[in-house]
Amino acid sequence: MRAMKNIVILISGRGSNMQAIVHAARAGGWPARIAAVISNRPDAAGLAFAQAQGIPTAVVANREFPNRECFDAALQREIDRFAPDLVVLAGFMRILTEPFVAHYAGRMLNIHPSLLPSFPGLATHRQALAAGVRVHGATVHFVTADLDHGPIVAQAAVAVEAGDTESSLAERVLAQEHIIYPEAVRCFVEDRLAIDNGLVRVAPPVQA
Ligand code: GRF
Repeated sequence: MRAMKNIVILISGRGSNMQAIVHAARAGGWPARIAAVISNRPDAAGLAFAQAQGIPTAVVANREFPNRECFDAALQREIDRFAPDLVVLAGFMRILTEPFVAHYAGRMLNIHPSLLPSFPGLATHRQALAAGVRVHGATVHFVTADLDHGPIVAQAAVAVEAGDTESSLAERVLAQEHIIYPEAVRCFVEDRLAIDNGLVRVAPPVQA
């Protein structure tokens, strides 16, 4: 029997990716538990969902700290109270300091709403429409100090249709995020991900 892994999920808002991961973890019999959901914003809508699920929640409000270093140090202390094997950034809208990223090296995942390395940063759907790409999508990656550039775990592609708007595109990409992010987290907790020279290898599931 593998040891249960602790997952800590960080959110800033709606938390629909967090919800997808919580549901998948419960349904799939993962060797993991959602140990906590932590937000940098007290008003994050996703906190209510987590509380209703009986998941411990916490707020570390970035506004209450004088700078990034102090905030990240406080956030790290809060996260580490839950002894995380994996930290999952799910719509966590903060740029992280290098010591924080280094502390969770190889055990922190993010989802970004574009096919990286295209369109890092904000307003990715607007960027995709402005570039006229025919294919857009989402990427799950390990977090490194280089914003939106860590080793890629999973991607899903979405066709850009004539007449698409930022919101229509966002909606179709989000539906894919809700599929690939739980799957990527599952692979991590099943010890199926390895980083080799900056590339992620995904091992097949072990047959029961
Ligand atoms: C998602 O599109 C995610 O890729 C991006 O921010 C959005 C968060 O949505 N980083 P939610 O909070 O998971 O609903």
